[in-house]
Amino acid sequence: MKKKILYITIAFLVVFVLLDCNVANASNQAPDVYLTLVNKTHPVPDDWESMVDINTVFNSLGEELKIEHKTYDQFLYLRDELLNEGIQIELDSVYRSVAEQQEIWDEWMVEYGEEYVRNYLAVPGYSEHHTGLAVDIFVIDSGKIIRDNDDMIASVEIFAKIHELLPKYGFILRYIEGKEDITGYSYEPWHLRYIDSPEIAKEITEKGLTLEEYLGET
Ligand code: DAL
Ligand code: ZN
Repeated sequence: MKKKILYITIAFLVVFVLLDCNVANASNQAPDVYLTLVNKTHPVPDDWESMVDINTVFNSLGEELKIEHKTYDQFLYLRDELLNEGIQIELDSVYRSVAEQQEIWDEWMVEYGEEYVRNYLAVPGYSEHHTGLAVDIFVIDSGKIIRDNDDMIASVEIFAKIHELLPKYGFILRYIEGKEDITGYSYEPWHLRYIDSPEIAKEITEKGLTLEEYLGET
């Protein structure tokens, strides 16, 4: 009888320890890197490079770029579907180191002035481009390259078609019209952000949210 009680006690202890481990594992799980918020108040995490896989690729003009691997895979699927609709999108700027962002910052300050720079460019260290998950695109329309910011903003119909397909491939438009006070940036039809979840991307897009609002970080 005593032995039976002992076995039952041991069995309970084993189950308890296993359950406890599971709870601990769940709470120790790594946060979803693809939903990492980088904005004017959230710098890129220090150990970011160890959390993602960033590869070198080339666009169709032969320009060398770096991009997170899943972001690139899904970009290619998005690109293929748009090509079927007669729209050619290309990678313009994807991963940028803090030093590269600083170079752009310094050039733009001279070329465009501080007000424009603060509306369209992140302070080095605070750019989504440091993650490899942000994708600036440009368009080639009937052989004509549309790459200038103002020309892209004016290409309303083309970008409407591009934006419609983003959630299907896990992308959102990051700097949307009307939410400049939340994102801190002007409307950028070219700046896509990969979040790895078509479901969440669909919800964010359909509700007209910013990533800040979705994450409750406004
Ligand atoms: N253009 C965006 C805001 C950046 O520089 O990260
Ligand atoms: Zn961008």
